Amino acid sequence: MRVKLFQNIYKTFRIKYNHMAVFTQVFNPLTAQNEWAVHNDDYDYDLELTCTGFGDMLHDKERNQKYFKALRMAIARMHADGREAHVLDIGTGTGILSMMALTAGADTVTACEAFMPMANCAERIFTVNGFGDKVRLVKKRSTEMRIGVDMPQRANLLVAELLDTELIGEGAISIYNHAHDELLTDDVVCIPSKATCYAQVVQSPLASQWNSMKIVADLDGNILLQPPKDVLQCKGDAAVHDMQLSQLSLENFVPLTKPAEIFEFDFNRKSKTPVPVQRQQLLEMIALQPGSTDLIFYWWDISMYSGDNLVLSCAPYWAHPDYKSRNDIIPWRDHWMQAIYYIPKPQHISRTGEKFVLSCNHDEYSLWFDVHNTLKSNTTVSRHACTCNLHLAYPRSRIGQMNQSVRNKKFLNYLENNLTKDSQVLCLGDGCILGVAAAKMGVTSVVISENHYFSKRFMESVVKNNDIKNVEFIENVNSLPYSKLSQFTHIFGEPYFFSAILPWDNFQFGHLLQNIIEKLPPTVKIAPYSAKIFAVPVQFTDLHKIRTPVQQCEGFDLKLFDRMIKHARAKLPDHKVEAQPLWEYPCKALAKPQELLHVDFHNFKKEQSNNGDIQAESDGICNGIALWVEWNIDGGSGSKSIVSTGPVEPVEPGKFIKWDMFVRQGVQLFEQGYPVINGKSSIRWALQHKPTLSKIEMDFNVNV
Ligand SMILES: C[S@@+](CC[C@H](N)C(=O)[O-])C[C@H]1O[C@@H](n2cnc3c(N)ncnc32)[C@H](O)[C@@H]1O
Repeated sequence: MRVKLFQNIYKTFRIKYNHMAVFTQVFNPLTAQNEWAVHNDDYDYDLELTCTGFGDMLHDKERNQKYFKALRMAIARMHADGREAHVLDIGTGTGILSMMALTAGADTVTACEAFMPMANCAERIFTVNGFGDKVRLVKKRSTEMRIGVDMPQRANLLVAELLDTELIGEGAISIYNHAHDELLTDDVVCIPSKATCYAQVVQSPLASQWNSMKIVADLDGNILLQPPKDVLQCKGDAAVHDMQLSQLSLENFVPLTKPAEIFEFDFNRKSKTPVPVQRQQLLEMIALQPGSTDLIFYWWDISMYSGDNLVLSCAPYWAHPDYKSRNDIIPWRDHWMQAIYYIPKPQHISRTGEKFVLSCNHDEYSLWFDVHNTLKSNTTVSRHACTCNLHLAYPRSRIGQMNQSVRNKKFLNYLENNLTKDSQVLCLGDGCILGVAAAKMGVTSVVISENHYFSKRFMESVVKNNDIKNVEFIENVNSLPYSKLSQFTHIFGEPYFFSAILPWDNFQFGHLLQNIIEKLPPTVKIAPYSAKIFAVPVQFTDLHKIRTPVQQCEGFDLKLFDRMIKHARAKLPDHKVEAQPLWEYPCKALAKPQELLHVDFHNFKKEQSNNGDIQAESDGICNGIALWVEWNIDGGSGSKSIVSTGPVEPVEPGKFIKWDMFVRQGVQLFEQGYPVINGKSSIRWALQHKPTLSKIEMDFNVNV
């Protein structure tokens, strides 16, 4: 899901130009504008390549070793039974599973790969590893393959890794069904042989904040904004919310049931019937304790080889079969996480032992859930969809952020202290719900620039349901005439922009402001007043692995793959820093945070070129730099003026950092970890802010 989001934002439109260059339209999140970039012909797919979770997958030792072991067992058994092993590897990627199959003694191997840069990479990796003439590589989708054209005969051993966090989100069901019908023998052995999905019903007020709007109250607790009726009645978005559930602390949820097996997917098709593309399962659940059936925790496991107990589990640590007392022995992976599904209308369970019904549903690509008081047979529960625009408009992190009362109170405090009945407020940013709250404070008018269709519909319903009369929505702030601009007494932003990926992409507030600042009265008050970018060198427990070169995997040389990813990343704009929800990825601080940039929105045009050193204040391995923005609402120095998107508690060198859970931070991951020594090592940094070019560039170098 995360990759998909990134890909959408950086959608590239390719126009081929005289066979030498490719023009791509690259989205600049700082300006929300598409810009043209010219690349060599081989540019294609760079972003797609760098966004794939291949690196992380290939670092997943448990996965690799269990695939290898299952292949060895299956091929040995076939040979012991006097049968040859003809292997089909669907979605070969780097070619790793095909090379394992050949090493395990397969008689023939056909590998297919639909993604052309990966297929080309696999071809070269096969050669480097001495398998060049041993694998039949088919550069197309398995569903386009034909026996007699792409393979001489049906395969009797299928190895494939086509699963995502949701299990079926990458289309595994139809790929398996097609393969069984067209490409495999009746007695085929599949690796993995089956998958089992699990669900656990949970109450979690914290996680529920990612799913609905809460009341917005002023500092005295008086209600400023009620969630509209549409929102309260909305069933929400059925889409999966993938998450590193092991990082959700135990005090943040109450399990209402034990984990239950909900679906089994028989990839081997032992029953000789197709893998179902749609199913409903009604399960009677017995409550472990009273509570609200807010959501489902979901994960799956796979049995690698039929008849053997070789299982790979994606359970969070507390439900993992290998968990005894320490969670650090549970393998970490980012390519398969766990997930949350929100229940459309949570039921209240009043006592331990109460029975209720969990309705589990899946179609070809997704799952969804509901909870009922009683068993209603033959009720198909259709996949629910958002009807209130909130879920259509905003990502889960923004919905969660809207509900953060401590954060909201700081902005509301400013608004209460600064607005009067004569105030005329202009809000810059998307989904500026606190701007609507400002209107409720009795000001003359609030103008909100909002050009996102669903966000505008949602905001309009908040306005209507709260009987607010003094709000006007406009599409483009630049279209406001001087006569209007010169009347504003306050400019306000939370600031949040749909287009923002990194925290400082919300500096778009400054860009919008810059276009109109000369037409605003000199007395206009601007909030936020300023913003700072902070950095802290860290030692990640695991996250760094997603960018660490693979080099060797189970004895196979994958350096060519590393090189391909490196080249692809280097060609991307701003490739070094990426956005991650750092609360899901534990890291220890190796120093105190340092300010890298201070921008004043009254003078946003000013170019800055800053540099400095961050002295290590703890021994450790520096494998990344964590970055965030601190907004200063009114230019004050007290904590009431500051809204941070980073740590929620003071950072102490040598200790784990506690991060804001409702926003993504920036992170630069190093390809290798640097051993740093307290008082001796330092991190040299340089930052350039070129507001006129809408660019913020950073560079970090560790001196050990
Ligand atoms: C999760 S990766 C696994 C790569 C490799 N097998 C491994 O285990 O490291 C899945 C790969 O399958 C490819 N793929 C997905 N569906 C496919 C299909 N129907 N035919 C061929 N390739 C496919 C994707 O492009 C991707 O490279």
